[in-house]
Amino acid sequence: LHIIHIAAEMAPVAKVGGLGDVVTGLSKALHRKGHLVEIVLPKYDCMQYETIQDLKVLDMPVESYFDRQLFKNKIWVGTVEGLPVYFIEPLHPSKFFWRNQFYGESDDFKRFSYFSRAALELILQAGKKPDIIHCHDWQTAFVAPLYWDLYVPKELNSARICFTCHNFEYQGSAPASELASCGLDVHQLNRPDRMQDHSANGRVNPVKGAVVFSNIVTTVSPTYAQEVRGSEGGRGLQDTINAYSKKFVGILNGIDTDAWNPATDPFLKVQYHSNDIDGKAENKEALRRYLKLSSANSRQPLVACITRLVPQKGVHIIKHAIYRTLELGGQFVLLGSSPVPEIQREFEEICDHFKTHEHARLILKYDEALSHLIYAASDMLIIPSIFEPCGLTQMIAMRYGSVPIVRKTGGLNDSVFDFDDNTIPAHYRNGYTFLKANEQGFNNALKRAFNHYMNDADSWKQLVQKVMNLDFSWDSSAPLYEELYHMSIARARSRD
Ligand code: ADP
Ligand code: GLC
Repeated sequence: LHIIHIAAEMAPVAKVGGLGDVVTGLSKALHRKGHLVEIVLPKYDCMQYETIQDLKVLDMPVESYFDRQLFKNKIWVGTVEGLPVYFIEPLHPSKFFWRNQFYGESDDFKRFSYFSRAALELILQAGKKPDIIHCHDWQTAFVAPLYWDLYVPKELNSARICFTCHNFEYQGSAPASELASCGLDVHQLNRPDRMQDHSANGRVNPVKGAVVFSNIVTTVSPTYAQEVRGSEGGRGLQDTINAYSKKFVGILNGIDTDAWNPATDPFLKVQYHSNDIDGKAENKEALRRYLKLSSANSRQPLVACITRLVPQKGVHIIKHAIYRTLELGGQFVLLGSSPVPEIQREFEEICDHFKTHEHARLILKYDEALSHLIYAASDMLIIPSIFEPCGLTQMIAMRYGSVPIVRKTGGLNDSVFDFDDNTIPAHYRNGYTFLKANEQGFNNALKRAFNHYMNDADSWKQLVQKVMNLDFSWDSSAPLYEELYHMSIARARSRD
């Protein structure tokens, strides 16, 4: 198959969170299975340019329509992680992707509706005939209605559209009038059964449009797919999701096991393998030295948290976890940053408080290299999310032998099974879980993990080796996408 992903992120060149990891991991897995996979991204100024090979300008300016005018786009092509990637640089006076950040601009709706249209124009003007166009999250959700509206009637192309929603919290809704800029017919689309936002206050909703107009709609774990059918998880889209349930499915993400491999990871002090985990202790020492934490006790458990600090992630429990870990005699390391100024400030205060503490450190920034060392150095990783569509950090942690302590929600519920739960077959049990999103629930899970670690070193070591050997690669999930693609191609094209 010829598959083109249109996305706002791709690791490592443009990564904010898990979306970037998934676009790369899934693309690599499909490529390994023999498919032609290409990716289209915006050309941001703040990308990791050193991770692109052979970047050059294509001798083919692509024209795209916006606000009743045609604009030229400079198209760049390069290789990222062995995959061909097209980067769109709009020659538009607003310099849409020249803002020194990926998201969070007041004109995000404009920037990404522009990008969605330009990405489709690129496919068309370059004469590409993909079987599947796979778009991700609200930023590229416009592709589905655009494709249906502008390209299908003209029989210009016969691709099927797959839309993956990585988080229904972010729907990108905006005043309906803004939809016209990229050429969509506001009058036709601003209807309750199409793109009208459920708030019904004159807004349109790109994610709703993608659910209605794509051939395949997926989200990133089976449990989350269930949760979003209800009012809490669906965030107003539950009725639309239920109406289109035949084309909607939850597929658990995988991780890129080349990028996340303790046996080859260049960011570690010492590489190690599940057969010989002594290297883990050396990485712990290295991290402690680097962060100026006490190294007096090598058997003192190191608890970590690597996360975007947003309400979804259970920030109040994360704060609590720092103090609780110290009370239990552990060490705590947080690597995270927040796009929400109040949360960032709150954590800056806590960070300041622990600046010289022997057993706790907060590093409030995005740091890819340090994240690798923390996964390797930690004994436990906490993810107390209020909701979690999939979550990758629990899988990465296990690959590095750090035992996850998670709230049972979304993809965490599909990948972490409580060590003490006798109703689950023993070989599945790989971490500690709790149900209630409160401090008591978390305390109970943390306490049990600490008791295990402190009182039975041999059994803990076996658990570490077991979780390292679990397979969270894309090998199990990529074939599920492949199957959906094939099924959709086999069906006559219709927007349902
Ligand atoms: P989300 O996409 O909701 O942020 P995921 O668990 O799916 O959560 O993915 C998070 C990804 O971002 C992981 O690869 C994790 O290692 C990485 N990450 C999160 N915060 C940081 C940070 N401060 N520094 C480095 N990497 C981070
Ligand atoms: C979103 C979700 C996260 C998921 C990631 C990749 O950012 O918050 O749970 O793992 O997308 O699909």
